[in-house]
Amino acid sequence: MKIAIVGYGKMGKMIERIALERGHEIGLRLDEFNNSNFEGITAENFAGIDAAIDFSVPHAAVGNIERISALGVNQVVGTTGWTNQMDHVRQVVESNKVGLVWSPNYSVGVNAFFRIVAEAAKLLSAKPEYEAWAWEIHHSAKKDAPSGTLLKLVDEMRKACYDRHVDVGSNRAGTIAGTHEIGFDSAADTITLRHTARSRDGFALGAVKAAEWIAGKQGFHEFGDIIF
Ligand SMILES: NC(=O)c1ccc[n+]([C@@H]2O[C@H](COP(=O)([O-])OP(=O)(O)OC[C@H]3O[C@@H](n4cnc5c(N)ncnc54)[C@H](OP(=O)(O)O)[C@@H]3O)[C@@H](O)[C@H]2O)c1
Repeated sequence: MKIAIVGYGKMGKMIERIALERGHEIGLRLDEFNNSNFEGITAENFAGIDAAIDFSVPHAAVGNIERISALGVNQVVGTTGWTNQMDHVRQVVESNKVGLVWSPNYSVGVNAFFRIVAEAAKLLSAKPEYEAWAWEIHHSAKKDAPSGTLLKLVDEMRKACYDRHVDVGSNRAGTIAGTHEIGFDSAADTITLRHTARSRDGFALGAVKAAEWIAGKQGFHEFGDIIF
């Protein structure tokens, strides 16, 4: 495949390496120097591009999706911090008849963790003696807080009918790839569910596999639904 990398930062560079290792070609790299006002998203630049992979910045993600969709190019989006515009993005994808894979987290383990947390929340939803917390820590360069992954974990708890308060917290320090924790505490005991990312490689590999999967498809898809 010929891939456009949108957001050539820590993740974009890792995605480039993994895409090349898997036999793909990088046809375009967009970052703040050639796309700060979306000027890099032109029909000429995207000619022959099979998929765009966006790991950019929260304020650019939706504008990138709108313009790349209008060019008829499929996308994989990993940028977080824009999900309050999710309904609009779904509509953009559908009206342009393109394919898009979204996840706040492209690791297989975290997508299993979403389901594990949902099951725990379902079990404890009718047990008011258990109060819940949700916590994450990431490297200090991360721009959004709470992380998109933590927001999705809380959303999974809500969908599983856990409707009591969930106390949410975030920390930013050092170079931590990402740790997410959901806990339940009662007078008798504590349950702690924790996912720890060891490196960013798992996110990058998942995103490249998602780009391979979306080839020739249409519609809005969540990565977790693809892999499970
Ligand atoms: N879904 C997942 O699995 C996953 C995993 C890790 C990270 N993420 C998310 O992915 C995003 C990127 O993470 P990162 O760690 O790679 O951050 P990063 O190193 O800061 O990279 C972001 C890149 O986007 C560039 N950029 C700025 N404006 C842009 C524009 N208009 N168009 C295209 N690119 C633009 C930035 O340039 P400047 O730095 O020069 O402004 C930077 O090179 C974040 O939202 C992060 O939360 C998701």
